[in-house]
Amino acid sequence: MPVYLDNAATTFPKPEAVYRAQDEVARRCGANPGRGGYRLAQQAAQVVSQAREQVANFFHIVDSRCLVFTASATQSVNMALFGLLQPGDRVVTTSMEHNAVARPLHHLQQHGIEVVHVAADPRGCINLADIRQACQVPTRLVVVNHCSNVSGTVQPVEDIGRWCRAQGILFMVDAAQSAGILPLDVEEMGIDLLAAPGHKGLLGPQGTGVLYVHPELTLRPLIYGGTGTFSSQLEQPESLPESLESGTLNLAGLAGLAAGLDFIEQTGRERILVHEQALLKQMWQGLSALSGVTLYGPGPDSGRCAGALSLVIDGQDPSVTGFFLDQKFDIAVRVGLHCAPLAHRTLGSWPLGTVRVSPGFFNTEEDIEAFIAAIAALR
Ligand SMILES: Cc1ncc(COP(=O)(O)O)c(C=O)c1O
Repeated sequence: MPVYLDNAATTFPKPEAVYRAQDEVARRCGANPGRGGYRLAQQAAQVVSQAREQVANFFHIVDSRCLVFTASATQSVNMALFGLLQPGDRVVTTSMEHNAVARPLHHLQQHGIEVVHVAADPRGCINLADIRQACQVPTRLVVVNHCSNVSGTVQPVEDIGRWCRAQGILFMVDAAQSAGILPLDVEEMGIDLLAAPGHKGLLGPQGTGVLYVHPELTLRPLIYGGTGTFSSQLEQPESLPESLESGTLNLAGLAGLAAGLDFIEQTGRERILVHEQALLKQMWQGLSALSGVTLYGPGPDSGRCAGALSLVIDGQDPSVTGFFLDQKFDIAVRVGLHCAPLAHRTLGSWPLGTVRVSPGFFNTEEDIEAFIAAIAALR
């Protein structure tokens, strides 16, 4: 089994209970949730509603109907941006966004929506003052990546969210890298739209994602169709979550997601964070001591870094480093631009990108030692 250090792409392995829950539900309860009155279909609906309650509680969402299941964070982001924005709207976002946000906004920009990118500093940090400055012109929405998938840079979403709420500006968070790891409370943080994958820090299977929609917001659906409710009407139902959940849900995936959340609750989110932070610190210290290695981002001692960090062996294309890490050392990391070209321009790692290392809860100090030793050997 390789040393897997690509948890920012998707967490692996998942807790055993996640695989068991998926298997159990797929084998024993494989009816279509919300599409029948017989007992098996009701059991399936129960799996979905339990998962919904659990995820909603986790993010302090008062009304679980405001939590919509999707297939990925990308789908959640698209549903939010295309469902909300109209020509004439102005959006403020950052230079640290993943393409999941940057590409839909780029597209919308060509359809009458103004998009302003706040430039982060060279460590990838933005502050409330930067957002305030950019919002001097009337703005409908602020979109911020909570935690960078390139440098691990954490943005002060609580400060930004509270300020936006006070100004009447909608606030959306891309929590792809933070959900399950950093505290997220939609009420406390003034978050109106929260997009998160189920398959990263929430430890669920691939093919799961969530979107929180503030109860006073109405999004135009991207997908219209059967919801199992109001079947006599040709109009799409207006109430959440059905309005945004047409079609059959990923039942086994949602059972796995609920099991992932059980694992986080039993283990303690804080304990997961502490373990991952310790591994990041070990990595940062070990790599800093090596000549010929450049590290990017604020680093774990800054209090503004979580989940991942990026490096380059000076003079070596990251893809070459990644190839040898895989082939010679059996270490799996992601190299290149990590779907975040804007972030690399900000951090100074454009155009080749970086080697990104993202430890997860199941990584050990030995894994990090092996990685540092491999980088030392490849210099
Ligand atoms: C910051 C960020 N946003 C969005 C995404 C997209 O997530 P998904 O793969 O679930 O679509 C990722 C994936 O790596 C990410 O890192």
